[in-house]
Amino acid sequence: MPTFSQARLEIGQVTNSEKNYDNIIIDIKNLIKNTLPVDKILMGDCVEALKLLPDKSIDLIFADPPYNLQLQTELLRPNQTVVDGVDDEWDKFTSTDEYDLFTKNWLTECKRVLKSSGTIWVIGSYHNIFRVGKIMADLGYWTINDVIWYKTNPMPNFKGTRFTNATETLIWAMVSKEQKSYTFNYHTMKSINEDKQMTNVWHLPLCTGPERIKIDGEKAHSTQKPEAILYRVILSSSNEDQVVLDPFLGSGTTAAVAKKLGRRFLGIEIHAPYTQVAAARIEAVTRIPDGRLLVTPSKRTQPRVAFSTLIESGYLSIGQEIYNKGRTKKALIHADGSLVLDAVKGSIHKVAAYCMGQTNFNGWEYWYVDLDNKKLVPIDSIRSQYLEDNNMKREFSDLS
Ligand SMILES: C[S@@+](CC[C@H](N)C(=O)[O-])C[C@H]1O[C@@H](n2cnc3c(N)ncnc32)[C@H](O)[C@@H]1O
Repeated sequence: MPTFSQARLEIGQVTNSEKNYDNIIIDIKNLIKNTLPVDKILMGDCVEALKLLPDKSIDLIFADPPYNLQLQTELLRPNQTVVDGVDDEWDKFTSTDEYDLFTKNWLTECKRVLKSSGTIWVIGSYHNIFRVGKIMADLGYWTINDVIWYKTNPMPNFKGTRFTNATETLIWAMVSKEQKSYTFNYHTMKSINEDKQMTNVWHLPLCTGPERIKIDGEKAHSTQKPEAILYRVILSSSNEDQVVLDPFLGSGTTAAVAKKLGRRFLGIEIHAPYTQVAAARIEAVTRIPDGRLLVTPSKRTQPRVAFSTLIESGYLSIGQEIYNKGRTKKALIHADGSLVLDAVKGSIHKVAAYCMGQTNFNGWEYWYVDLDNKKLVPIDSIRSQYLEDNNMKREFSDLS
């Protein structure tokens, strides 16, 4: 039986895998023009495959194209072992002109298939990302962010001739400068970043350990990306059931994470053995069954209930006393939905801020009422009760 690395050099041939993945893999020769297959891997050249897809049909693209690394010589570690660099045939181009033309061709087709609200992510290293960025700008893409992937475990510069190369760049772009809208799940990213706005520098490790797919002890793919990157890309810039396309699917990272996160995937890969690896990987992934676990409700999308609504509808009453948690502050509820504390009158937030000696404070988190002369109840839980009674239930009570 050939090892995978032998097999992977032969484009068009499959591994000796026992399993048949015809339910997932479609040879592009069998693809009907202008149809959009989903949850499939299209086997063939990405430019040819993209040409068969309908206009404006894709919500999000993640592309990890060949880098054109052009490693000149074998690289040795200090202990004389050979560094397992990228020297695959698919990464070789005869000239930079050829690389640029290839880049222009696939990016042109990506632009055509993206919906008018869609976005694209392209990842690359210093070898190619500047060329890719220029071609994207020339084609009319409009950059939203460049994201720096800071590798927490980079490969050292064994010769000590330059700085350790510890970063790659992702360009996140809209289809055009005039694009009216795009998806950015701001609150989800903020929540992932422990409630601080997420920056464009992502500290994430290279794909190693059990996540790295191996066949007969060898890496199944030389440039398998960490799932953590795709997790952020897909979660930040697409929604449940949207279609995520990867024109250079490789070992299937994008599709596997998309499926896990409840998105539809479409991958294109020219190299048959990789399609087998990707299909097996995708098949092993389970989609998150409960869509509520994928969405971070923002304050804006939560049903809004004014404090005065609770008075109008009898959940609180005019003149009722309202306290802070330790009962050291006491105010009275006014008919107009404000609070009166000594000579001060204002909204629940303004009076809470006054009590705290601050400029702003969330009154929903500060005030309590005494419902039965026994125990203080937060006004936020009275609001939750109102929402429930009126079938306006929030997805989750936000404890953050
Ligand atoms: C940098 S790798 C992508 C790795 C992938 N992100 C992963 O996590 O496994 C690029 C992939 O593009 C494929 N490829 C190269 N040229 C292609 C083409 N013209 N059409 C489709 N796929 C191509 C290669 O076989 C390789 O698997």
